Amino acid sequence: CCCHVGSVNICLFFLSLNKLQGLYPGSEEGWQVYSTASDPDGRCVCTVVAPAQNLCKRDPRSRQLRVLTEQVQNVSQSLEVVDLRTSRDLQYVRESEPLLRGVDGRLLSYVDNPRMLTPKNLQIMLFCYSLGALRAELRNLTLLLASIQDQVGAYDYEELQQRVLLLESRLHGCMNKLGTSCGRLTAVSSPITVRASGSRFGSWMTDAMIPSSDSRVWSMDGYYKGRRVMEFRTMADFTKGQNFVQHLLPQPWAGTGHVVYNGSLYYNKHQSNILVQYHFRSRTVVLQRSLSGAGYNNTFPYSWGGSSDIDLMADEMGLWAVYTSIPNAGNILVSRLDPVTLEVMQSWDTGFPKRSAGEAFMICGTLYVTNSHLAGAKVHFAYHTNTSAYEYTDIPFHNQYSHISMMDYNPRERALFTWNNGHQVLYNVTLFHVIRSDG
Ligand SMILES: *[C@@H]1O[C@H](CO)[C@@H](O)[C@H](O)[C@H]1NC(C)=O
Ligand SMILES: *[C@@H]1O[C@H](CO)[C@@H](O)[C@H](O)[C@H]1NC(C)=O
Ligand SMILES: *[C@@H]1O[C@H](CO)[C@@H](O)[C@H](O)[C@H]1NC(C)=O
Ligand SMILES: *[C@@H]1O[C@H](CO)[C@@H](O)[C@H](O)[C@H]1NC(C)=O
Ligand SMILES: *[C@@H]1O[C@H](CO)[C@@H](O)[C@H](O)[C@H]1NC(C)=O
Ligand SMILES: *[C@@H]1O[C@H](CO)[C@@H](O)[C@H](O)[C@H]1NC(C)=O
Repeated sequence: CCCHVGSVNICLFFLSLNKLQGLYPGSEEGWQVYSTASDPDGRCVCTVVAPAQNLCKRDPRSRQLRVLTEQVQNVSQSLEVVDLRTSRDLQYVRESEPLLRGVDGRLLSYVDNPRMLTPKNLQIMLFCYSLGALRAELRNLTLLLASIQDQVGAYDYEELQQRVLLLESRLHGCMNKLGTSCGRLTAVSSPITVRASGSRFGSWMTDAMIPSSDSRVWSMDGYYKGRRVMEFRTMADFTKGQNFVQHLLPQPWAGTGHVVYNGSLYYNKHQSNILVQYHFRSRTVVLQRSLSGAGYNNTFPYSWGGSSDIDLMADEMGLWAVYTSIPNAGNILVSRLDPVTLEVMQSWDTGFPKRSAGEAFMICGTLYVTNSHLAGAKVHFAYHTNTSAYEYTDIPFHNQYSHISMMDYNPRERALFTWNNGHQVLYNVTLFHVIRSDG
């Protein structure tokens, strides 16, 4: 029978399920479509194995998107620098005002009595020097603004960003049409070590919202009372450890379960069950809300400890919190959160003891739990929120550095981000999806 995938008809010979299992997992290159038997209603059941990224990557829109994203990124970065400098310079001018008045008075007295001008009054020279520096900085700022104008060229910044978002959603639409944007996890690829940095425990990520024009990478070292977030312009910059700015959070964090979603960092405040939303562009905390009943302060961590009581994450369906409470006897609860209010919209009790879990991540509304943070770990358990049902799984992955303290799925990159013993490691995932179409 034939499968209709987007505008393409794919007709395949009958493949028995046995044969399918033999073929699978197949080439990492592209995606595969299998046609299995007709279902009881006589409709053809097709099976598509992702990753399907490559198919859409050949789309000319993909290249265009990359260039536009980079442009928007360049402009955002420059705007941020201008923003920082402007506030710093304004602060400087404000602080200089009283000083200037004092200098004025002293200058008048020097005119009256030039002998008072001793080396002790070097301060005046310094002041003049800093005025010169300020002027140089303002010159730099003007140059920067001019270069931003050049970069943006004919486009308005907002328009550029809109175009990126439109392209990204069209590409995502392309993947949706193929029916492979969501599915059941069946395999985890070999790891790729992106960088070795930081201590044994930490967290790193990109924005998990779809669509997004954001290519920044954030890194948060440590699990105890940290406040410093490193922000890199792109993955390439993160790999080289260059082109970064820092954010100092007003409230310290606990654990490694942070997530960046729609330009904000969501994290668990140190020694509390309060969730904090920190907005990167405005550099402010915009929201705080207690996750009612959630255990904290290393009461119900993952197997590696580290105050990993509350794990925030995002998938194709939105924002989630994974945690537990005393009434739930330490079994993992998964709650869908409203990203605007941080209120719990719905919760599921998975029945899996949190302290026995290595890590947990969400893909397409299904929670996957590993059985250990050490070597030999497997994806051992899956809980489907769509059916409120669980199953045991046996999906191996290579735990190269033998100590995973963070593992999160990013739906935009379709990859697992992990922090493994001071290494930042990525895995691709294979999602298995069945397309039903009339055959
Ligand atoms: C963005 O900036 C980088 C480094 O300054 C430059 O190499 C690149 O060409 C710029 N990209 C675009 C699209 O302007
Ligand atoms: C101005 O920019 C140049 C080149 O980027 C840099 O070397 C210099 O330190 C800057 N000056 C000030 C005052 O920021
Ligand atoms: C629920 O989600 C899982 C995994 O994403 C999928 O395999 C399954 O078909 C879904 N079930 C229903 C009834 O939608
Ligand atoms: C993302 O944030 C913007 C404001 O920064 C808001 O207008 C938009 O609704 C948010 N989108 C989602 C899906 O939360
Ligand atoms: C958190 O745990 C530490 C160490 O066990 C303890 O000293 C501290 O009082 C606890 N704080 C809260 C708020 O429970
Ligand atoms: C994931 O797949 C893409 C496309 O095939 C590839 O470029 C990338 O290197 C892979 N990443 C990992 C971690 O294997």
